[in-house]
Amino acid sequence: MSAQLQDQFGRVATDLRVSLTDRCNLRCQYCMPAEGLDWLPTEETLTDDEVLRLLRIAVEQLGVRQVRFTGGEPLLRRGLVGLVAATAALRPRPTIALTSNGLGLARTAQSLAQAGLDRVNVSLDTVRSDTFEQITRRDRLADVMSGLAAAHNAGLRPVKVNAVLLRGVNDDQAAELLGWCLERGYQLRFIEQMPLDAQHGWSRAAMVTAEEIFACLEPHFTLTPVERSRGSAPAEEFTVDGGPETVGVIASVTRPFCGDCDRVRLTADGQVRNCLFAREESDLRTALRHGATDEELAARWRIAMWGKRPGHGIDDPSFLQPVRPMSSIGG
Ligand code: GTP
Ligand code: 5AD
Ligand code: SF4
Repeated sequence: MSAQLQDQFGRVATDLRVSLTDRCNLRCQYCMPAEGLDWLPTEETLTDDEVLRLLRIAVEQLGVRQVRFTGGEPLLRRGLVGLVAATAALRPRPTIALTSNGLGLARTAQSLAQAGLDRVNVSLDTVRSDTFEQITRRDRLADVMSGLAAAHNAGLRPVKVNAVLLRGVNDDQAAELLGWCLERGYQLRFIEQMPLDAQHGWSRAAMVTAEEIFACLEPHFTLTPVERSRGSAPAEEFTVDGGPETVGVIASVTRPFCGDCDRVRLTADGQVRNCLFAREESDLRTALRHGATDEELAARWRIAMWGKRPGHGIDDPSFLQPVRPMSSIGG
């Protein structure tokens, strides 16, 4: 086994997604039930110092080159600015990104940028306030929009927007959303809905496919596949009307990209997940709290990655949705 986070299929994880909390201030239909979920108790959540120790091991010993903070909603984590600053002080300095719902970003974008955050991806599925409230069960569209503008002004670029289309809810609004993002210089990506909602309401038939997304956009825009290799990025990119602006499609279900995956995940309670859809996790928190050395933690992490499966297997008859929902994995 090499020093890096390698698996049996030759993939090497260099992109670490760290969920900082499972809590969220929205209740998106495709993610959480209206009443929310049972949140992790504080004592099970890694402290800032514990997160930083694992980040240091990942960067210094395991070859991690990009750190993305996720949630739930990562802006709900009080220590976020300090965590970003401490991550930026690691060597070699990783790229630092954030995936957020945008609430509170108007207030924090500047200090996050100053602390060393490089870029941000914000979820936004519609630019109509009634549809926003229908999807997220909260009337907060204006806050997300001001959060996006603040991120752009703070230089957290490219600002990417993530949109999930839901049949009969916002699937008639794809072109409108793309037009809105293009006007503001945000890079929009449409995401196929994945079976990760806590309510287990996903069905393949209800999912809006990449093919359908193209069919919605093509009457309004000319989309041309971007020539450069996409590497391990989940999004397929297309220039819009000759470019340079682009739109992306993340077709996890109908065009899986698992063979090129370079991701590893750490949950807020200190479990390594080698795949978004993993059914097993590796507990680093218990070892961490029982005096394990850096080398022991690094060794556990490598073993966790070695067992990564070749793909998510959504199409296998034996597929089972992971026990942990999207909101506590962090996407
Ligand atoms: P970029 O580096 O900016 O491209 O980030 P990203 O698109 O990987 O991250 P983001 O948090 O914005 O996630 C966008 C969508 O891609 C979410 O629905 C994620 O769940 C999904 N996604 C991210 N990583 C993976 C992955 O390894 N596998 C699958 N199937 N989906 C992923
Ligand atoms: N399928 C696909 N994407 C999802 N997201 C949340 N739940 C799902 C799902 N079931 C998206 C959010 C956010 C990103 C982390 O994942 O919209 O942008
Ligand atoms: Fe919150 Fe993100 Fe889930 Fe929406 S998708 S409820 S913003 S964690």
